[in-house]
Amino acid sequence: MYIYIVDSLLKIILAKGYLTRKASWEILLRVNAGSFSDHALEKVIANYEFKTVDIAFITELSFGCIRYRKLLDLWIDHTSKLSHIKQPPKLRWLLHIGLYQILKMDKIPHPASISTTVEIAKNSELQGLSGVVNAILRNAIKKLDLDNLPYVPNNNLDRISYFESLPTWLVKEMINWFGDFKAERIAKAFNKKPVIDLRINILKTDISSCLKDFKVNNIKAEPIENLNNAITIKGKVGSIKELPGYKEGHWVVQNRSSQWIAPLLNPKKGEKILDTCAAPGIKTTHLAELINDQGEIWAIDRSEKRLRILAQNLKRLNLKSIKFLTADSTNLVNLKPEFESYFDKILIDAPCSGIGTLSRNPDARWTLNKKKIDELRSIQEELLLSNLSLLKKSGTLLYSTCTICPSENNLLIKKFIEDNKQLLLIEEKQILPDLDNEKDGFYAAIIKFR
Ligand SMILES: C[S@@+](CC[C@H](N)C(=O)[O-])C[C@H]1O[C@@H](n2cnc3c(N)ncnc32)[C@H](O)[C@@H]1O
Repeated sequence: MYIYIVDSLLKIILAKGYLTRKASWEILLRVNAGSFSDHALEKVIANYEFKTVDIAFITELSFGCIRYRKLLDLWIDHTSKLSHIKQPPKLRWLLHIGLYQILKMDKIPHPASISTTVEIAKNSELQGLSGVVNAILRNAIKKLDLDNLPYVPNNNLDRISYFESLPTWLVKEMINWFGDFKAERIAKAFNKKPVIDLRINILKTDISSCLKDFKVNNIKAEPIENLNNAITIKGKVGSIKELPGYKEGHWVVQNRSSQWIAPLLNPKKGEKILDTCAAPGIKTTHLAELINDQGEIWAIDRSEKRLRILAQNLKRLNLKSIKFLTADSTNLVNLKPEFESYFDKILIDAPCSGIGTLSRNPDARWTLNKKKIDELRSIQEELLLSNLSLLKKSGTLLYSTCTICPSENNLLIKKFIEDNKQLLLIEEKQILPDLDNEKDGFYAAIIKFR
């Protein structure tokens, strides 16, 4: 009887371990087929009935594998006869699942990492390769024990690029922008688990009521230093939408760096404000809250789909001062001639390379390239130039991005000011991610007419 119970319990534990790894592998397969990491996670977990703690594990494992792709490939090359490039892709991603647990998840015993990974192979089309999976993972453990690590050239560029798992071109750029020391700290910050920060909707509630709500529901949360209406969630949470106060519109998810942006525009009650790249409306709704929902805010975005999310946010937060429109903001002056010299304040939260938020978007580092950054810079220039005529002569323009790439930030603004002598750069702010902070990278420039 006792043996039967222990055996059954073991099977349940193994089955649970198997399912979380299988779901993680399915996320990798989706991301490899072109899906964003967060979309893939959402789609996959919808097919299972996982608890919060399982979802947290799956997120850690799958996002970790995506971030550390380069390092995991290096380990495949170190432990297998076939290089990672020559492995069948499905096998490569499955090996990542096993290797990541072995290399990066201290609390998982190596035998469990191997057995669950081999089990996935056995129950999938990789059935015939389950022995290969077993051999490669065992080899990895052996080499790890013997301190026989993969060879990486002894220079900062390769070291950061392999161990922090970033494309070489990006590390080269980061070293060029910030020097070796800072570049490495930023690279490490890209691999940290991102925090969940909330901005409290002060028109509906206040910070102490929100903290009380979380406490009652056994969720650890605390205020964020140097911000008035911000809290950060501590510990494991499941779906954001299930957290207390979400449905009531008591808060929105917004990283602490991003919460600096809207106040820089110093919005006032009764003002006319244009948000040219507004969806999904995190900063538009912040602007509305700061003017007590009394004024006229236009939220423009060329993506109808993203504007639909903005509309949901407006409803949830119960904000009335925002009108929205699907349009290309580089052409607003033609689409809405009445907008000429109409606005007191304009926010251009431009589409950008998003290098400041790489920790939040695990797949982004692998899809970004220099050509894309050049294309984005052209759009950013166009947005700046085309919206100038919509600003009152006494007005303020705020340009912001969530990147740390100078050509999209300070260098772009420097050139813009030089080319438009009637403008004055009032203030610039660059926030860099770092090992010691929980900040996403952000840039903002405040511009006025002379
Ligand atoms: C950084 S996101 C904006 C985030 C938003 N401000 C917020 O805080 O929620 C950039 C947005 O610019 C939009 N966009 C890109 N090019 C545009 C254009 N030419 N006209 C209008 N919107 C554009 C994208 O669809 C995207 O929603």
